[in-house]
Amino acid sequence: MKPLKVAMLGCGVVGTEVAARILGNAADLEARVGVPLEISAVAVRDAGKERPGIPSELLTTDTAAAIDGADIVVELMGGHEPARELILTALRSGASVVTANKALLASDYAELLAAAEDAGVRLEHEAAVAGAIPIIRPVVNSLAGDRITRVLGIVNGTTNYILDQMEKEGWDFDHALATAQELGYAEADPTADIGGHDAAAKAAILASLAFHTRVSIDDVHVEGITGVTADMVETASAQGFTIKLLAICETLEDSPAGPGVSARVYPALLPKDHALASVGGAFNAVFVEAEAAGSLMFYGQGAGGAPTASAVLGDIVSTARRKVLGGTGQARRSVGSRLPVLPISA
Ligand code: NAP
Ligand code: HSE
Repeated sequence: MKPLKVAMLGCGVVGTEVAARILGNAADLEARVGVPLEISAVAVRDAGKERPGIPSELLTTDTAAAIDGADIVVELMGGHEPARELILTALRSGASVVTANKALLASDYAELLAAAEDAGVRLEHEAAVAGAIPIIRPVVNSLAGDRITRVLGIVNGTTNYILDQMEKEGWDFDHALATAQELGYAEADPTADIGGHDAAAKAAILASLAFHTRVSIDDVHVEGITGVTADMVETASAQGFTIKLLAICETLEDSPAGPGVSARVYPALLPKDHALASVGGAFNAVFVEAEAAGSLMFYGQGAGGAPTASAVLGDIVSTARRKVLGGTGQARRSVGSRLPVLPISA
């Protein structure tokens, strides 16, 4: 059977994990998709750099050639340009695109989605919000018939890690940030994390999808954690509070400006017995409140190579299934390398 060609743009913290898993789990993925997934190219800035597990012949600096002829383009380079132009080119050529680029989606979502719809292909981005946590699909699909009124939570792993290490280990801000960078949690430019802009991008995406409207990052009130000192963390803790960077998106019926949508990001004092206060490390947690469903909580690893790769791979497999089967791609759900069912006594 003809393989599906997967072109990767970027092979850093997340891209390396995605590529290694596609190459290492080829048989399983083929069974789930129905045809092999073949990485056709991996575009990077420095093709001479050694990347363990990634065959050097796949590496290229020619991004345009990399996406030419691909069935699925996986954009994990980050930033605005050239990511935006490459995604548009890929979509217009008939390739589906999987991306984790929240900064780009928060500013250019409408244009990218329109290009995907015009070309009749998919634009998937589960990894753009809250790392491994499935939050985009539940909001877009599972709750599509409900009325979401509020989305609230911790959506940036780097700042949560920094605040947590400052409180629990007494680390200073700079040491905690440097460690978050080493662990692969932070953005290439970590000012997006500590300034609250990464959380604001995620808030814009969540608010747009949850409330069926268009919220851009410029509509989000943003305060980061750069003003949070070790003294503040210590004092808050001594008084029974913990400081968390929260993103809050809600519909307001009776604001002074009339009914509408509000989105904001700021460091908040939470009592230590609050459900979000116990979210440690680079974990994220998101509450979604909807009229019929009530309150739902989503929790898991919000940053880092492997957790984010899980969400990217989910998008790649579901996109590939649709390409192979057309329509829903549902028929392959129960297919794979099947483990035997053990007897009850085992
Ligand atoms: P990263 O480690 O900085 O990797 C970026 C990759 O893109 C590198 O391989 C780099 O090449 C390549 N690249 C950058 N600009 C390029 C260009 N102009 N042409 C060709 N290649 C280029 O970033 P990351 O942490 O993997 O993040 C990737 C994306 O995922 C970003 O949009 C980020 O916001 C998002 N994300 C990250 C996480 C996380 O926990 N890290 C979680 C969720 C989403 P070189 O290797 O040669 O420099
Ligand atoms: N820098 C981001 C964070 C990566 O720390 O949450 C995950 O989106």
